[in-house]
Amino acid sequence: MTTIHLSDGIIKDEILVVGLSHKKSKSSLTIESGDIALDTKKILATLADMGATGKADEVIKIPGTNTRLLIFTGLGEHKATFDDETLRRAAGAAARALAGNSSATFSLPAKKSTAVGAVAEGALMGAYVFNRFRVDSLSDRRPSLKSVTVHSSLAQDPKAKAAVKRAAIIGDYTAIVRDLINTPPSHLTPDSFCKTFTEIVKKAGGAAAGLKVSIMTDSQLKAKGYGGITAVGQGSANPQRLLQISYRPVKAKARKTYAYVGKGITFDTGGLALKPAAGMEAMKSDMSGAAAVCAATIAIALLKLPVAIDCYAPLAENMVSDNATRPSDIITMYGGKTIEVLNPDAEGRLVLGDALVKAQENKDLDGIVDVATLTGAQVVALGTRTSAIMTNNQEFSDHFFAITKEVGEAFWPMPLPVELRASLDSPVADMANIGERMGGMMVAGLFLKEFIAPELPWLHLDIAGPAYNEGDPYGYTPVGGTGVALRSLVALAESGAIS
Ligand code: BES
Ligand code: MN
Ligand code: ZN
Repeated sequence: MTTIHLSDGIIKDEILVVGLSHKKSKSSLTIESGDIALDTKKILATLADMGATGKADEVIKIPGTNTRLLIFTGLGEHKATFDDETLRRAAGAAARALAGNSSATFSLPAKKSTAVGAVAEGALMGAYVFNRFRVDSLSDRRPSLKSVTVHSSLAQDPKAKAAVKRAAIIGDYTAIVRDLINTPPSHLTPDSFCKTFTEIVKKAGGAAAGLKVSIMTDSQLKAKGYGGITAVGQGSANPQRLLQISYRPVKAKARKTYAYVGKGITFDTGGLALKPAAGMEAMKSDMSGAAAVCAATIAIALLKLPVAIDCYAPLAENMVSDNATRPSDIITMYGGKTIEVLNPDAEGRLVLGDALVKAQENKDLDGIVDVATLTGAQVVALGTRTSAIMTNNQEFSDHFFAITKEVGEAFWPMPLPVELRASLDSPVADMANIGERMGGMMVAGLFLKEFIAPELPWLHLDIAGPAYNEGDPYGYTPVGGTGVALRSLVALAESGAIS
């Protein structure tokens, strides 16, 4: 993984990354090099000759004077103060363009410690590459930028130091989430997911860091009545699991207790409602929610936040077989509700229902958050880059929404209209697993709501589109797994630590 440093001293790297912005009148460029003075006049003329625009995601490399290479990364329109996400993306785009190099110094217009942290975060997330399965083709792929130095006059400020340390954790754990999403079901099963996180928890300090892992096997799940997880996983040769990672602060008292629950379908074929072959490969990303909540919980432990987290990942592979759940099958969820499975492709809500009920056995919860690549309707409603927030508690939702903006993750609040609930009624069981097609994202949210105690603040995050980038890379976002939701989940815990 890429290492990070913070410095206010002389530049030791051969590569210097600075920002480039443009005034509203398009031909006027401004070099935004933070605390480093450059001979801008000559460089600006060169940049103009090259047709530079300073727009986001433009990265221009020219020979430097103090350093061998000078990199300009687009910041968009000139601002007196650039917001954190603009800096994060610009740093990310540059780090991406620097794959194959060993080290670079980033000097961007970051005026506050949080902005310094954002530059570090962006560079680390942008440096990510996934080459685990390349053998013959490995040699023609550029490895990730190995070392990043953020240059800032705030380098001696304890807040800036803490922000960079935090960024290192965010960078590492975002990479873990992305690696897991990018790993195909041939190499990632419910069991191997559990083993991977058991290892990661151990490396993070295990019990000494306040972390505890427990795993329920398929036979235990069946015996204890987890009918949702069982129904989804029973068609697969790779048996289902329920992974729990709990974090309790080691020395401090927990100021807030949250449950984080993530959908962990290691592959979603649709089951007997088999999905079309075209595009099915993207369903290796159907465990993105589970990876995000688990990684966030460990990141929260490494940040030693005085909050308690109960993290659950219900894991299953949704397959076709003689033992797969059939449309019309009735299952009994954990807690006793019966569900008529009309569509085995609406499997996420089944595994989540069980885990949400289990999580609420802790009566100290201040809030519960589920994260899931739950519906194609989410992508239709909000596109591929904006995730949805649904809730039973407006205040909790508003608070979280504000946090997502601070950390630079695109979320948008969506309603849970009561009139859609009736479409989930079943003629034979307590509820059906599908309802009205129109507004399918909200119907899925309403299904989950049935498993939440009405007075418990709850957020349902549908990340179906943003979890997996099938388009071009941009900013710090690579192709494939993105790691979305991790930063907001960590920041929610941080907000709980101070209130
Ligand atoms: N994992 C899918 C949702 C999904 C679709 C995630 C596209 C990412 C991209 C989910 O399990 C699913 O299949 N949902 C169905 C629900 C329907 C049967 C009610 C869907 O959205 O079509
Ligand atoms: Mn499905
Ligand atoms: Zn799914």
